[in-house]
Amino acid sequence: MFVQLEEINSRPKPFEFYTAHELWVDEYISRQMLSYHLNGEIDASSRNFSFINKSVDWIISQFEIREGKSVIDFGCGPGLYTERLAKANASITGIDFSRNSIEYARNRARDEKLNIQYVNQNYLEFNSVNQYDLIVMIFCDFCALSPGQRKALLEKFKICLKPEGSILLDVHSFNAFNQREESATYTANPENNFWSPEKNFVFQNTFKYADAKVTLDKYTIIERNRTRKIYNWLQHYDKDSLTKEFAESGLQIEQYLANVAGDEFKADENEFAIVAKAEK
Ligand SMILES: C[S@@+](CC[C@H](N)C(=O)[O-])C[C@H]1O[C@@H](n2cnc3c(N)ncnc32)[C@H](O)[C@@H]1O
Repeated sequence: MFVQLEEINSRPKPFEFYTAHELWVDEYISRQMLSYHLNGEIDASSRNFSFINKSVDWIISQFEIREGKSVIDFGCGPGLYTERLAKANASITGIDFSRNSIEYARNRARDEKLNIQYVNQNYLEFNSVNQYDLIVMIFCDFCALSPGQRKALLEKFKICLKPEGSILLDVHSFNAFNQREESATYTANPENNFWSPEKNFVFQNTFKYADAKVTLDKYTIIERNRTRKIYNWLQHYDKDSLTKEFAESGLQIEQYLANVAGDEFKADENEFAIVAKAEK
């Protein structure tokens, strides 16, 4: 027991393990995630619908989304942004590795007769032959990736971008990092809870990596016949660190915003958004 508890409470190196698929692709958990996406009142899995409507209105006007324009959404979930953007008659692509979310999105597009191409794939393995006017990645998914994965993704973005195209994404801020605290908690869960149809015990360890500005929520989920570890990493940024990271991939940030709905940037918020283009 002592050895197991030591392992549970051990601190890995930043981004040592990538388990995003356990959270988003696992058949059972991804159904819980889908129900969060579709609850328009809350900011879980996706932001609330009132924000999404405001964001899509801003994106359509800011990037002149209309017939002849093309948009790709990395980590599109069940298509809350893609289906709203498609109503502006642009050509829309959504990519996500959650089969449940993509199935839901495809059914919606078919029922609503919307021109959206959905790709059920890990976006780190996605290779596009097309180029787009706008690439979006929304709800801070960029922050869940390791430095190497982010570098590879930004290279992909450059290849997918039309010469005058834009990238819109949001990230967690240093302010959010400062508010997190290290902790170790334990819960005993009944059947049919978030993690499993079976009774389980969950240890949650939150670690902070001060120099790297990274946090980790490590979940050790123990059931009668299996134990899973899920690592939820978050990279945090300020304007300088994100600008540097984009510049290292030949991308230039042109706008800093409070969010992907175009509100004015504020240094003391927990998230911010950027618009970037390829350097000329
Ligand atoms: C926080 S949710 C945001 C969903 C959507 N952007 C929104 O705001 O409504 C992150 C999404 O990214 C997807 N995702 C995470 N990692 C992925 C990966 N490596 N490849 C493809 N999709 C991924 C998840 O399945 C999930 O739908």
